Amino acid sequence: MIKHTHIKPSYIQAKKRSKEEVKILTDAYIINNELKKIGMGKKYLVITYGCQANERDSETISAILEDMSFTKTDDFNDADLILLNTCAIRENAHNKVFGMLGRIKHLKEIKPNIITCLCGCMAQEESVVNEIEEKFKWMDVVFGTHNIQNLPRLISDAINDNELIIEVYSKEGDVVENLPVKRSNKYKAYVNIMYGCDKFCTYCIVPYTRGKQRSRKIEDIKCEIQKLIDDGYKEVTLLGQNVNAYGKDLDEKITFDMLLKEVANMNIDRIRFVTSHPWDFTDEMINIINDYDNVMPYVHLPVQSGSDKILKLMGRRYTKESYLKLVEKIKNVIKNVSLTTDIIVGFPNETEEDFNETLDLVEKCKYDSAFTFIYSKRENTPAAKMEDNTPFEIKQKRLQRLNDLVNKYALINNEKLVNTIVPVLIEGKSQKGNNLYAGYTDTMKLVNVKCNKEDVGKIINVKITEAKTWSLNGEKVNG
Ligand code: 5AD
Ligand code: SF4
Repeated sequence: MIKHTHIKPSYIQAKKRSKEEVKILTDAYIINNELKKIGMGKKYLVITYGCQANERDSETISAILEDMSFTKTDDFNDADLILLNTCAIRENAHNKVFGMLGRIKHLKEIKPNIITCLCGCMAQEESVVNEIEEKFKWMDVVFGTHNIQNLPRLISDAINDNELIIEVYSKEGDVVENLPVKRSNKYKAYVNIMYGCDKFCTYCIVPYTRGKQRSRKIEDIKCEIQKLIDDGYKEVTLLGQNVNAYGKDLDEKITFDMLLKEVANMNIDRIRFVTSHPWDFTDEMINIINDYDNVMPYVHLPVQSGSDKILKLMGRRYTKESYLKLVEKIKNVIKNVSLTTDIIVGFPNETEEDFNETLDLVEKCKYDSAFTFIYSKRENTPAAKMEDNTPFEIKQKRLQRLNDLVNKYALINNEKLVNTIVPVLIEGKSQKGNNLYAGYTDTMKLVNVKCNKEDVGKIINVKITEAKTWSLNGEKVNG
């Protein structure tokens, strides 16, 4: 008889942070010969929502499915297994997933044997899993962010029985090493340096969905990067919810700047890292970015708000003034740095004055670009209990004003690059057609480039000929 898994997420458990040591699991991924054949002749489709952490997880999920002999398809109607890797950060990400489940339901009516899975951050939410149990019982597997390694067993159980299988752990999580990966890009790659987050900003669901902060060992990170170098990769992005806190949970005295220096001494052309929290961004990090040619002059430094009152309510632990000082320091040391940020408008209790402080901060920082969002209430976070009496239309108008200002500086900064020569890693054909190729500058700006097929996968010098708000145009120059 098949033993069904039925482990549901719990809000109470997800909040807890114990002193219990994090385990590093090196042999948690088990796949036997029988499981290896399960997907023979079947096709899979993975749909990914949300951030780079999810994209990286989907690369592992795809590799596991291929280990099980499934082959990839991009065609929704052709898939025998559809897996949604979901994001919980805002309501709209959540709604998109439920919309997609409606579509999948129709497909399942025509193709009852199709295997349907949901994982990622939404799977870690108690209310989402309850809703799936009530309204989407026809689904096959729901699993969480901490147990991707169990996918072969879960799918095998799903094939053998019709019951909905739920296996979501809320308890903190371990570090699971040695999972396979199928990279979606041949030249640049994401490398997790840590999982989870302990910052608990009051609006944010991530500390609950991704668990406690767990840093990977420096040797394991370097080993993954070495493999990428051996495979010809040109660029790595070190990933963490809060990279500057790297190592704080490890016994050895290891900090992010030590890791960054070690990686910079490896033979890789480009290193980026996201996301930095302004709170523990050190002078040493600024110096390393400046000193090492392969650490890119690009800093993503989410500010969230320019009002000290709102920053305090958000639990951000810095002030507008201290943030501005940090930005000044970064800009003074790294001359060609590009600076981007995340901003939330319409947080509970945000007044017109508070919002004007945010606009003032944007005027002062002159960001190269910014991701801007209307605050979205997330169940069980501290901010969800705060009174929010700003009408939605006002929040929308604030967002529009903010975007206009952000776009103004994005264009001004891009225009400064016209007629300069910048390095671009060419990734492939441009969406603009006309035999153009596309890639990113060291400062993370998208460029549509006139160059040749042979330049794909290379870092070439490009003369910028035209600036737009979101991208640049340019042509290859020799030398
Ligand atoms: N509402 C709106 N935006 C949010 N973010 C995180 N949580 C929320 C929320 N509840 C934004 C922050 C963060 C980015 C990844 O998403 O700006 O930096
Ligand atoms: Fe990524 Fe956060 Fe969305 Fe999870 S909730 S996918 S960690 S952005």
